[in-house]
Amino acid sequence: MSKLQARNEMVINAPISKIWAVITDINVLHKINPGVIKAVIIALSALVAIILFSCKKKKLNENLYEEAKASGLVLYQNKDSILSPAGSSPHGPFKLKFNSTAASQFGSDGKFPVGGAFTNGSLIVKEVYSGGQLSLYAVMKKDDSKFSADGWLWAEYEPDGKTTYSVGEKGKSCTSCHATNPNRDLIKSFDLY
Ligand code: HEC
Repeated sequence: MSKLQARNEMVINAPISKIWAVITDINVLHKINPGVIKAVIIALSALVAIILFSCKKKKLNENLYEEAKASGLVLYQNKDSILSPAGSSPHGPFKLKFNSTAASQFGSDGKFPVGGAFTNGSLIVKEVYSGGQLSLYAVMKKDDSKFSADGWLWAEYEPDGKTTYSVGEKGKSCTSCHATNPNRDLIKSFDLY
């Protein structure tokens, strides 16, 4: 039988099972295909980066939940009563709280000034109530990390700490509504209550 062989081809006379055994032997794979090591390193680096990213996200959510439920937050206008939501609000009845960093930036009228920008670390917690019971923390925290959107971290947690809206979502469901007028650095309540 005549054979047509290109100059850069090699003909191996060996049983398929032997050739297959060599190709699939992980210990010699790098000799047959040096690129495989590079590919494995790239894949492992990507995996490590993904794991670190999701660990950071988890930690951020855990910390934010702890901050949201901490005692010592300042009640808006010192009112400890449950407020009714404004017309465009999807949130439900609520109490509004601020950490001291945020509250220290209020003017003499007890509101954040029009046109201002909160400093990093300012925390705003909306405790949402259902049937008189706390049902959700909606949280905004001023932050300039890669998880922030329009300058804020956006998240929601159930009272037991379950994340219902992760900082990893980067406020996709929140920012467009909060950016509509009126708002003061995306905070809506000052003009509504
Ligand atoms: C359709 C409009 C809309 C969307 C979407 C929305 N919000 Fe709000 N949000 C409001 C309004 C209006 C208020 C003012 C208080 C009220 O009436 O409920 C508010 C208040 C808040 C507050 C208290 C501070 C403030 O701005 O007054 C927080 C915190 C908050 N929202 C978080 C979120 C988060 C987190 C999301 C996304 C998961 C979100 N909101 C999505 C309309 C919206």
